[in-house]
Amino acid sequence: MDVSEAIETRRAIRSFKKERPSKEQIKRILHAGHMAPSAGNLQGRDFIIIEEDSIKRSLSIAALGQTFIMEAPVCIVSCANTPRSASKYGSRAAMYAIQDASIAVMNMMLMARDLGLGTCWVGAFDENKVAEILGLPDGVRPVAIVPLGYPDEKPEAPPRLGDRIEHWNGW
Ligand SMILES: Cc1cc2nc3c(=O)[nH]c(=O)nc-3n(C[C@H](O)[C@H](O)[C@H](O)COP(=O)(O)O)c2cc1C
Repeated sequence: MDVSEAIETRRAIRSFKKERPSKEQIKRILHAGHMAPSAGNLQGRDFIIIEEDSIKRSLSIAALGQTFIMEAPVCIVSCANTPRSASKYGSRAAMYAIQDASIAVMNMMLMARDLGLGTCWVGAFDENKVAEILGLPDGVRPVAIVPLGYPDEKPEAPPRLGDRIEHWNGW
């Protein structure tokens, strides 16, 4: 699959088959995350890979009851590591770390699509609860929970605003 096909056909998947992605597939997806750009190449991000049902259940509760999180065989939580970015970037570090963690999610979602797997960016969660569940150290913030597995649905592409949100040469 080429990049444009992956971009066009990736959808938020909220229903998963029981079949588990292989370790090799998960490692390829993580590698795609590592290969994403980052501010100063500091890679102000960490990925927590969750396979344990009890942890997925806790995450699903922390994510306001989004139960598809616990139905996915695997979840990857992309976290912003501000201290790592702060070694070079001071007051910009918090934002850079969020950007580093976010752009890695996009790479991972596209790689998952290429491998025939589905993902959904889950951003609606209680940040403090997720940090506690995962034992995140100070300065490391969960940015996105990404359930991952074989899709059990084929959603239509939701409409985009398109050229209404393009501003050429200024607002
Ligand atoms: C920052 C962000 C937060 C999101 N949070 C959630 C969420 O908590 N739960 C959910 O089901 N989908 C969530 N989504 C997925 C969007 O609903 C989805 O990407 C959007 O409707 C467009 O659909 P598509 O991804 O299939 O193109 C989130 C996406 C982003 C980028």
